Amino acid sequence: MEMAITVMNVATLQPKPLRAKSPYLLPNPRRVFNFKASSLHNPQVSSIGAPTLVGQFDPTIPIERAVTPPSSWYTDPSFYSLELDALFYRGWQAAGYTEQIKNPGEFFTCRLGNAEFVVCRDGDGKLQAFHNVCRHHASLLAYGSGRKSCFVCPYHGWTYGLDGSLLKATRITGIQNFNEHEFGLISVKVATWGPFVLLNMEQDVDSDTDIVEKEWLGSSSELLSNNGVDSSLSFVCRRDYMIECNWKVFCDNYLDGGYHVPYAHKGLASGLNLDHYSTTIYEKVSIQKCEGGSTERTNDYDRLGSKALYAFVYPNFMINRYGPWMDTNLVLPLGPRKCQVIFDYFIEPSLMITVIYKALRAMHELYISLGNLEKPSNEHSSGQKQVSTKK
Ligand code: FES
Repeated sequence: MEMAITVMNVATLQPKPLRAKSPYLLPNPRRVFNFKASSLHNPQVSSIGAPTLVGQFDPTIPIERAVTPPSSWYTDPSFYSLELDALFYRGWQAAGYTEQIKNPGEFFTCRLGNAEFVVCRDGDGKLQAFHNVCRHHASLLAYGSGRKSCFVCPYHGWTYGLDGSLLKATRITGIQNFNEHEFGLISVKVATWGPFVLLNMEQDVDSDTDIVEKEWLGSSSELLSNNGVDSSLSFVCRRDYMIECNWKVFCDNYLDGGYHVPYAHKGLASGLNLDHYSTTIYEKVSIQKCEGGSTERTNDYDRLGSKALYAFVYPNFMINRYGPWMDTNLVLPLGPRKCQVIFDYFIEPSLMITVIYKALRAMHELYISLGNLEKPSNEHSSGQKQVSTKK
């Protein structure tokens, strides 16, 4: 007789009977270009689409005679499904930054393709990453970021340790053949490089730092390290945007920076010496570099800085390093015609106090403009305004 409760197969989101040795099917990152496998992730996939579209691509055409990809690569649901399998469910992918999980108990949630993950540092200080899916009925387990001693499912209260083990299955008494050791969270490979946390959905990969570095950044890693892409920077803030376009449109725009900046961003162009704009292609990384054009820009807080380096890490991560700043752009596909872009801002620690002061001052001035604070009647000798709360 089947048991009264069911567990969820995350890959298909279909309920299945709970059995002692319940298999857990993951998206298989090696099923690249397997059209039927791709349809697991997108039920709208058509019966022809992606293989035909890929077959139309001829990699032997020299760049001088190449044209842009057909628009169907940006709109066809089957091509989008193929991309999830071929690009996002294999290899190392940027997921977050190390400052988010510096201390035991800290966690953040993230996404690769259509799959949700939670990354945390357990009580022993070990970095862990799991599918962010409860093993009971597949509820999302954790949201956002923060600090926890365990993960409690918001649906029926199953509780998991930060090492992924199932600590408590509520009202399970009397259920036969239930072994809690078989219902821990499903782990994924996790690693770090510099200030970044990376995930990999392939099961049999090595997360040794040198191997991860070689696979993720190839021969560009030294250049990035030598140009200040490192974990000494302090996190400032995050901004994210929903954009109604295919995720590759954002990446395309990023990659042709040297082409469109003189026309679309005249203010930025005036601060760059575009005669010295260069683009260098590494294995999976494209690096654009440019000297600052103006010697008058001496403000340490200036976002342009004396040198600018823009690195695109295939397939969807961008690292921008300029002056004391670094920002990253992570492009998350949300469908053929929609994506989310997450901007994270970092700064050299010596300037963090300046950032905080400027942010507080801007907030203060905003409150004044909204009528929530009175204008100060005097100022301290330091030049800082005195704040008084309106009654
Ligand atoms: S879905 Fe039931 S406890 Fe999580």
